[in-house]
Amino acid sequence: MSSVNVPTLKLSTTGDAMPIVGTGLWKVPENACAESVYQAIKAGYRMFDSSSDYANEHESGKGLKRAIDEGLVKREDVFIVTKLWNTFKKAENVEPECRRQLANWQTDYFDLYLIHFPIALQYVDPATRYPPEWFADGKSGIVTERSPLHLTWPAMESLVDKKLVRNLGVCSFPGALLMDLMTYARIPPSVHQVEMHPYNVQEDQLQLCKAFDIKMMAFCSFGPASWVELDVPTVKQVDPLFTHPIITKLASKHSRTPGQILLRWATQRGFIVIPKSVKPERMAENLNSTDFDLEKEDIEEISGLDRRFRFGDPKAFDPKLSIFA
Ligand SMILES: NC(=O)c1ccc[n+]([C@@H]2O[C@H](COP(=O)([O-])OP(=O)(O)OC[C@H]3O[C@@H](n4cnc5c(N)ncnc54)[C@H](OP(=O)(O)O)[C@@H]3O)[C@@H](O)[C@H]2O)c1
Repeated sequence: MSSVNVPTLKLSTTGDAMPIVGTGLWKVPENACAESVYQAIKAGYRMFDSSSDYANEHESGKGLKRAIDEGLVKREDVFIVTKLWNTFKKAENVEPECRRQLANWQTDYFDLYLIHFPIALQYVDPATRYPPEWFADGKSGIVTERSPLHLTWPAMESLVDKKLVRNLGVCSFPGALLMDLMTYARIPPSVHQVEMHPYNVQEDQLQLCKAFDIKMMAFCSFGPASWVELDVPTVKQVDPLFTHPIITKLASKHSRTPGQILLRWATQRGFIVIPKSVKPERMAENLNSTDFDLEKEDIEEISGLDRRFRFGDPKAFDPKLSIFA
């Protein structure tokens, strides 16, 4: 895999090299996504974090194909991560959904396939609505489905057996659920993706995952920044991070931007990061965040901001549904 100076981590089940900096595609507008993926590859990105729920997989695939057709990269140079949405948890729905996502991305395998949330929601026929989002009827609240994880996981494993997917992982699993999964997984998760920023440093999950040789991946590295446009009330309960005095002080100390300080803090702690931006200068800034080191006391000072504060709880969309209650 061509690395463009971004270090990699070796995944436990396959030994695959995963870049520690990629870019996330949530809220990248559909009509801008093909160009965004293409420009990201041109800028040196070799890892993308996607999901059917982001409603831009088809466009992402177009951007990747253009980069491959123009000889910028080969398919095997790019590490594609995507996720199984909550409504496809019944074992019989897993493979058709993965194949639909592969067709959208115009590829025949994903490098990493994650369970998007540790909950199962009522199936929505993709012919009716795709992506299905949170509510079965599109409006009136969460309806769960009888699809326990111990039946979904073997269907995920069969994607690996069929070479549709190389590595498996999960997102936002409470520790006890992850430990339970480890008791029966034939192919264990290689990656756990969680919300992680200075207000939620996830030290407990980091230690648990180290014990299982599961690599950790951070979403929302910039804390509230991603949630401002969604008008989530919790945004007002914390200070923005880009202007936080501790972050700006360390940015001056290391002659880096606040964004680079936040990302380096995460990668030095062992997290893989996937900052999202649609702005070329920020994409470059975020990618170039691994060629300096914070000192131990810098890392501890940022970690001292921890409040176990979470933005990405489904209760933001339905007050009855806190999966972290
Ligand atoms: N597993 C899950 O449940 C889950 C949940 C949430 C997110 N994710 C994944 O994680 C990825 C990253 O998380 P996120 O998108 O929520 O948030 P994020 O990367 O922490 O923040 C993105 C926000 O920060 C801005 N930004 C980016 N780089 C910047 C910089 N250098 N300086 C100043 N502002 C900057 C972006 O604006 P511009 O675009 O205007 O630059 C955007 O508003 C997502 O795209 C998605 O792939 C997964």
